[in-house]
Amino acid sequence: PRVVFSGIQPTGVPHLGNYLGALRNWETLQTEAAPGDKLLFSIVDLHAITIRQDPEQLRRHKRECLASLLAIGLDPKKSIIFEQSSCRQHAELMWILSCGASMGYLSRMTQWKSKIGVGETEDALGKKAGKTLKLGLFSYPVLQAADILVHRATEVPVGEDQSQHLEFTREIASGFAALYKDVFPLPKTVLSPAKRVMSIRNPSVKMSKSDPDATSRILLTDTPEEIQNKFKKAVTDSLGTVTYDLKERPGVSNLIQIYSHMQRRDDFEAVAKEFEGCNMTQLKTRVSECVIEKLGGFRKEYERIMNESDGYLNAIAEEGAKKANESAEGTMLQVKKAMGLI
Ligand code: TYM
Repeated sequence: PRVVFSGIQPTGVPHLGNYLGALRNWETLQTEAAPGDKLLFSIVDLHAITIRQDPEQLRRHKRECLASLLAIGLDPKKSIIFEQSSCRQHAELMWILSCGASMGYLSRMTQWKSKIGVGETEDALGKKAGKTLKLGLFSYPVLQAADILVHRATEVPVGEDQSQHLEFTREIASGFAALYKDVFPLPKTVLSPAKRVMSIRNPSVKMSKSDPDATSRILLTDTPEEIQNKFKKAVTDSLGTVTYDLKERPGVSNLIQIYSHMQRRDDFEAVAKEFEGCNMTQLKTRVSECVIEKLGGFRKEYERIMNESDGYLNAIAEEGAKKANESAEGTMLQVKKAMGLI
């Protein structure tokens, strides 16, 4: 049987990149699951705190994140939906795995390197590392490996930016097998067709929650007006006609990709042809109309869930925690036995 695991950081309502790159695929996998398959989707609050969080805001973001997962169609009867910190085995396995994780490998991870800044000298880096860079951020990938391995996941549906973390996870798993025992299956990276959705303000960077420019991303809860305004400001070019050319026309091509992915199409050239004779304004209008239509159902469902009592969401999180604990405990027993801890 398959074990599907994936996670999302509770940094507010997910954006279109999260949705097209990962969340929509989670829902598809849930629909296609065979009897005996296990699916786990985690709100990774322990990862979120690698950056300082305001406690009240974190609580609110976790609630919004859970409501979002339910609103896209994840069903607590079919999937285990839980908060990472409510399943202690994640942190426990992380410590064990960190004893076998190489500092060299971790320091080459792009996410870490991007935090350090390009072109810094060793010395500046040393000083900076001493003050602002935290151990938790450095060991972030070890916790992610633990998330996946503690449930012995076989498949991990993510966007492309997580590929390196998954390679690291497989490395850790085979390292454990070589030293002790073959406890963990090697998890496969499952990418969706929309593996990398770009910022609509700067098509050379991915759409991201941490971009200071809020018009660079579409949130799943954006109102039709907000969606229209953001696409109006989307960066394109001055060619005037619509063609698909990722290299020469990254802005226009990103809009075509978004439009196509929303409709589960991946023949971008053919889609571009349908825009023949359209100017940029018309393209943007049609892309916004499509996104508004496809997200309408989500927003309604999200609002319904957010209007439920606290008890409603808490009960779902508690049930998820209980099932996640059961799923993780069996692995921990095997790991501890293999290592001589018990
Ligand atoms: P996070 O919270 O940044 O993103 C959640 C998911 O959304 C995908 N994604 C994108 N896909 C396409 N285009 C984009 N612009 C885009 N932006 C985000 C991400 O690839 C991800 O799949 N480290 C992870 C969370 C995590 C995790 C795990 C994932 C923790 N433990 C174990 C899988 C398995 C993260 O920060 O995702």
